[in-house]
Amino acid sequence: MPDKLYHECRELISQGRVILEDLSEWGFDTVQTPADDELPICPVPTAAGLPAPVECRPESLDELEARLNGCVLCPLCEQRKNIIFGAGNPQADLVLVGEAPGREEDIQGYPFVGEAGRLLDRILFAMKLNRQDVYICNVIKCRPPSNRDPQPDEIAACEPFLKLQLAAIRPRMIVALGRFAAQTLLQCKDPIGRLRGHWREYQGIPLMPTFHPAYLLRNPAAKREVWGDMKQVLQRLNRDHQ
Ligand code: URA
Ligand code: URA
Repeated sequence: MPDKLYHECRELISQGRVILEDLSEWGFDTVQTPADDELPICPVPTAAGLPAPVECRPESLDELEARLNGCVLCPLCEQRKNIIFGAGNPQADLVLVGEAPGREEDIQGYPFVGEAGRLLDRILFAMKLNRQDVYICNVIKCRPPSNRDPQPDEIAACEPFLKLQLAAIRPRMIVALGRFAAQTLLQCKDPIGRLRGHWREYQGIPLMPTFHPAYLLRNPAAKREVWGDMKQVLQRLNRDHQ
């Protein structure tokens, strides 16, 4: 490389470094390219169908959470204390999707903080993972009264937000915890007992259905199966890393 060009390159790189150092001091940890910023955010699909395809960038999790604020798209809004959006690492390789918040979650505002959540923590611990390594959310973001099953209209209202959450995170793998998460993400009606333990795909992302931790509280013998499913997840996560 000619000397002049070499010096210009060095100059440009050092200027770039100073700009990035400045940005980092001001508290920016990512720099978005203008091209990305100019794109509109994805419109929310409605129960009536998917919107016409447009070029768009995925909405960030923060934008999505802000948009859910005050949601009145289904009757669950009437009795909820909090909308339980989700929690964990927005860049997680692994997302775990549950069913719907229960009493504790409704009070505290975070997913899986009750008894089923404590069991989920133990499962994660056994996988040598913790809450900050993964992202956890539910199909339904508001508590169904008396923890009844979510109704089809409630799932239809809330599912688009789950899809946008997954589009924002773009994890390498998904674990569907229980029947509702598995059936909703896979758009099928197969029983969880048949779905669990077999790799499926959600939008090109490998998805492992397994039993819900609340089911394990009632049926501890099924922990063995769940651990087998989670071992498959770990093996695939590690294998695909190499
Ligand atoms: N059960 C779920 O499916 N999700 C929670 O957040 C808590 C319990
Ligand atoms: N029923 C469910 O909804 N989920 C399970 O994991 C098991 C039974």
